[in-house]
Amino acid sequence: MSSQSERTPLLSDRPPNPDAGPSNQDANALKNPPSASARRATGLREIVLFIWALVATAGVVVLAVVLQHHSSTSHPAQPIAPTDPVAGGPYSPTPPSVGKKKKRNLIFMVSDGMGPTSLSLTRTFRQFVSGLPMDDTLTLDRHFWGSSRTRSTNSWVTDSAAGATAFSCGRKSYNGAISMLPGHKPCGTVLEAAKRRGFRTGLVVTTDLTDATPACFASHVDFRMQMDEIALHEVGEGPLGRVVDLMLGGGRCHFLPNTTAGSCRADDIDVVRLATEKHGFAYKGDRQGFDELRRGKNVSLPLLGLFAAADIPFEIDRRHMADVYPSLSEMAEAALTALDAATRDSDEGFFLMIEGSRIDHAGHFNDPAAQVREVLEYDKTFKLVLDFLDKSDTEGVLVATSDHETGGLATAWQAPNELPVYNWYPAVLARANASAEHCTRLLLQHVSAYPAESERALMDWINQELVIRRLGIPDALEMELSALATNPTAALTVFSKMISQRARVGWSTHGHSAVDVNVYSSGGPGTEKIRGNVENTDIGKFLAEYLGVDVDEITRELQDKLVAQGVPSSEKEKERASVEEQELSRLGAQVGGEWKESFGM
Ligand SMILES: *[C@@H]1O[C@H](CO)[C@@H](O)[C@H](O)[C@H]1NC(C)=O
Ligand SMILES: *[C@@H]1O[C@H](CO)[C@@H](O)[C@H](O)[C@H]1NC(C)=O
Ligand SMILES: *[C@@H]1O[C@H](CO)[C@@H](O)[C@H](O)[C@H]1NC(C)=O
Ligand SMILES: [Zn+2]
Repeated sequence: MSSQSERTPLLSDRPPNPDAGPSNQDANALKNPPSASARRATGLREIVLFIWALVATAGVVVLAVVLQHHSSTSHPAQPIAPTDPVAGGPYSPTPPSVGKKKKRNLIFMVSDGMGPTSLSLTRTFRQFVSGLPMDDTLTLDRHFWGSSRTRSTNSWVTDSAAGATAFSCGRKSYNGAISMLPGHKPCGTVLEAAKRRGFRTGLVVTTDLTDATPACFASHVDFRMQMDEIALHEVGEGPLGRVVDLMLGGGRCHFLPNTTAGSCRADDIDVVRLATEKHGFAYKGDRQGFDELRRGKNVSLPLLGLFAAADIPFEIDRRHMADVYPSLSEMAEAALTALDAATRDSDEGFFLMIEGSRIDHAGHFNDPAAQVREVLEYDKTFKLVLDFLDKSDTEGVLVATSDHETGGLATAWQAPNELPVYNWYPAVLARANASAEHCTRLLLQHVSAYPAESERALMDWINQELVIRRLGIPDALEMELSALATNPTAALTVFSKMISQRARVGWSTHGHSAVDVNVYSSGGPGTEKIRGNVENTDIGKFLAEYLGVDVDEITRELQDKLVAQGVPSSEKEKERASVEEQELSRLGAQVGGEWKESFGM
């Protein structure tokens, strides 16, 4: 085990103290910063990977998924005992919470990467652009419920996988875990338990459906990068068979065999075909297919809708491509209408998870102009769900929260060698009509179309077409334009910085932060239990309790199945490590050196 330190970079080399309780290993991990050698050893896997693949034929750069890879390599081997104060939290579900309840619907919304500052930023932005009074608020503000603490078992700073496992299973786990507990033990999810009890179930997202948040509700894998496996579980090839009735979002490439253009699978499994032929899904793969759903009135379940190869574009860009991609609110509306119709005559209602997935990406890219539009679209979707609940005859509850904050966002930034200005400038965000991501894509397309262009000509083109026309910045510095022209693959950070600094918006990281995130709710039966400052697992426990379903029963079934498969845990560990290495080399090959440089990785 010479690679122990590589595998567990966050763990100190001090022996565990047996008196310190079951999460002692975690505690050590949290006390000690990784050593310099451990940091070097983790290299590629630390913090975040921004993956760009240059598709030569189209000359298009596809921005792929953001990964917090180190997380999946550093989880402790010990499961958290149920008595662990952190894992258990102060929340005490009414035992036994399972039993016959009145017909209920539950909508759970996740704003990935949205911290409290995102709300201040967006509220002010909206007041500014719409000329609204000083006390005007977002719909979310009027449904503020409390806040949630987000640490995982092995880090103070969670990733989306451990964050979503806290919601889906009501249990803390390690960064990277897809509804798995420390020690490779799967945990039953609220969606699986709901399906078992006769509820209809749905997932709506704006990123890949195989991404960590949706994955945690309907699949079980050791770490989030196993997206090929996650896609299989989601359509019904997992340990429990099919558990999801409706899935709408992006990530089509994970469902197509590697023999097909537009696939990003490592194998030749046609997951769409498995979904339709073996598991009975109706499949819609584009905007026309989405329109055929007639806003949810022409849906037969189960339904799989994959409307983008990877992410659905940021709202700031998508609104100019509305004939290609549906928005979060459009997909949510279709899902609510379809699930409502499908449960009209049944004893049980539905469970629907809706994620504003790309608030997080705007945070990773430090792009405030993109983020405010993502948050506004999320707020609009939140209102749409409230309106649905108001009109519905079936009792229902909406709970919304974030898995973590992203970016360490601040609504203030002090320029070097200047005094603080006691202000920030939403006008700068208002003038931009494209994301830094989209501008980078346009720049890379341009560079590959005109490889012989002089640096001066390129700088002029960048200034006219991207900086002035899309970002609305009239006063670019020579230094900025030259940085963009000489190193286009690093343009994303330069564009984001140009906006942020002029708006006096600050960021402290391209990763996540540990700040508590807000909880919002429609209110309703039992929601008092998640008032105030709660643990993220309390939210997960509430979801299961509200529906009156038993996730522990599913956990036992999953763990029995694992034992029945007879895979010893050391074998599993080896297998996991090997998949991880393969994934890393596959992805590493696609990561531009400049990207790693610019993020100090
Ligand atoms: C496609 O998948 C098959 C089997 O799953 C594998 O043998 C083959 O190498 C893959 N091809 C590519 C181009 O990745
Ligand atoms: C309704 O859905 C069916 C099946 O997907 C499709 O063939 C039909 O065109 C849709 N109807 C409308 C009016 O879009
Ligand atoms: C952004 O705004 C500029 C003018 O302000 C316009 O020329 C450009 O077409 C807009 N971009 C999009 C995508 O609408
Ligand atoms: Zn993230």
